[in-house]
Amino acid sequence: MRLVASSAIAVLALATLTAASQTPRTHKATQPPRSQMVAQTPPMGWNSWNYFRRNVTDKDIRAAADAMVASGMRDAGYVYVNIDDTWEGERDANGELQSNSKFPDMKALADYVHSKGLKLGIYSSPGPKTCAGFEGSLGHEAQDVRLFASWGIDYLKYDLCSFRGVMRTQAPNDPAEQMRLMEAAFTKMGNALRATGRPMVYSLSMGGRDAAWEWAPSTGANLWRTTRDIQPNWDRIYAILSQQDGLARYAGPGHWNDPDMLEVGNGKLTLAEDRSHFSIWAMLAAPLLAGNDLPHMTPEVRDVLTNRDVIALDQDRLGREGSRIYTEGEVDVWTRHLVGGALAVAVLNAGANRYSSHPFHLNLAKLGLHGPQRGKDLWTGKEVTLTSNMPIEIASHDILLVRLPQPK
Ligand code: GLA
Repeated sequence: MRLVASSAIAVLALATLTAASQTPRTHKATQPPRSQMVAQTPPMGWNSWNYFRRNVTDKDIRAAADAMVASGMRDAGYVYVNIDDTWEGERDANGELQSNSKFPDMKALADYVHSKGLKLGIYSSPGPKTCAGFEGSLGHEAQDVRLFASWGIDYLKYDLCSFRGVMRTQAPNDPAEQMRLMEAAFTKMGNALRATGRPMVYSLSMGGRDAAWEWAPSTGANLWRTTRDIQPNWDRIYAILSQQDGLARYAGPGHWNDPDMLEVGNGKLTLAEDRSHFSIWAMLAAPLLAGNDLPHMTPEVRDVLTNRDVIALDQDRLGREGSRIYTEGEVDVWTRHLVGGALAVAVLNAGANRYSSHPFHLNLAKLGLHGPQRGKDLWTGKEVTLTSNMPIEIASHDILLVRLPQPK
C-alpha cells in the first residue's frame, strides 16, 4: 500500500488561505474570440503518437474511438480522438493535401468518430515537412485548414518541426527575427482556423522551447507545449513536472500550459507512477490526452484514467493551475486552488524509497494553512482528516491527493 493507512495520515492542519499563497494572475485576456469557444477547461481525449508513433492507421483510430466509449472514458469526459503525425500524403495538382494509404477516407473517419459522440483531431506543421518528414502546411495554411474543416476536424496540433530551418534560413544569426517569424507562422494558422468559422482547438508544439507561454496566447493557441517530448519512464515524467514551476500564471480558461500527452499505461510505468503522473497533470490543469493502447489497457489503467474525482480536479472550472509549493527531501508538496474556495493538496514521493525510516510531516504553515482539515483522498475515495503532526508514509513514486472542500 502506498500509505500506512488513511487514518494514519489523519489530521494535517489546513487553514485559511493567505493572499500570499495565491498565485498572481498577470495574464491578460488577449485571446481572440475563436479560442474562447473551445477549451474552456483543459482538452481531454487521446492521441496516437505515444503508443503508435509512425504506425497509426485509420483502423487504429476507429478502435481507439470504440474503446473510448466501451471503457467509459467518453462518459468520464474524454472527447478528442487525435491523429498525430504520419497521416499525410502528397499534394495534388491543385495543392490539395491528400491523406496517405493508411487513411483512405478522412471524411468517413471523422463521420465515424462523430457518430460515437467524439471529436476528431489532426496534426500538421508550419514548415515544409512535419517532424516525421511528411508533408507540412507551409504556403498552404488556409487551404489545409479549409480541407480539415470540410472533413469535420475539431482539433489541430501544429508542430514547429522543419519551420526552424525556415527561420534559420530567412534570419541567419538573428534570434529576435527568428522568434518573430515563428510567432507569425503560428498566428497565420490561428487566423486561418478562425476564418473557417469551425470551432477547432489549436495546440502548439515546439518542443517546449522559446518560452511559448509568453507569446503563444496571442497567436490564438489554446495550449502550448512547455517541455520536450515525454517518455514512458519516471525520470522523464518527473523532469517535466519539475519544469512547470512559475508557469501557473499563464494558464486559464481557453489557454493552457501543455506538459505533453499522458503516458499512463505505457512503457514500464508502475501503477503508482501512473497515478502520480495523472494526479500531477490534474494539479497542473494540463490537457488530459491519453496515449496508451486503449483497446488493450488493463482494468487498473482504465481506473486511473477514469477516476472521476481526479478528472474533476483537472477540469475545475476556475481554471487555475496548481503549483509546487515546497520540497522536503524527495517529497514535493503541491496545491491547486479550486472553484468555491476548495483546495487540492498533493504530496508526491519522488524518491526511490518508501518514507518509513524518516516519515514525512506536512508543513501546513508553508501552505498558509492551520488546524485540522477534513477532505477526501481522491485515490481511496475515503474521508481523511489532515493534521501536521501525523506522519505520512508514501511508497516510492506514489502520491497522496486530497481535496479539501472547505479549507479553513
Ligand atoms: C514532435 C512532437 C511529438 C509528436 C512528433 C511527431 O516530436 O513533440 O509530440 O507529435 O513530433 O512527429
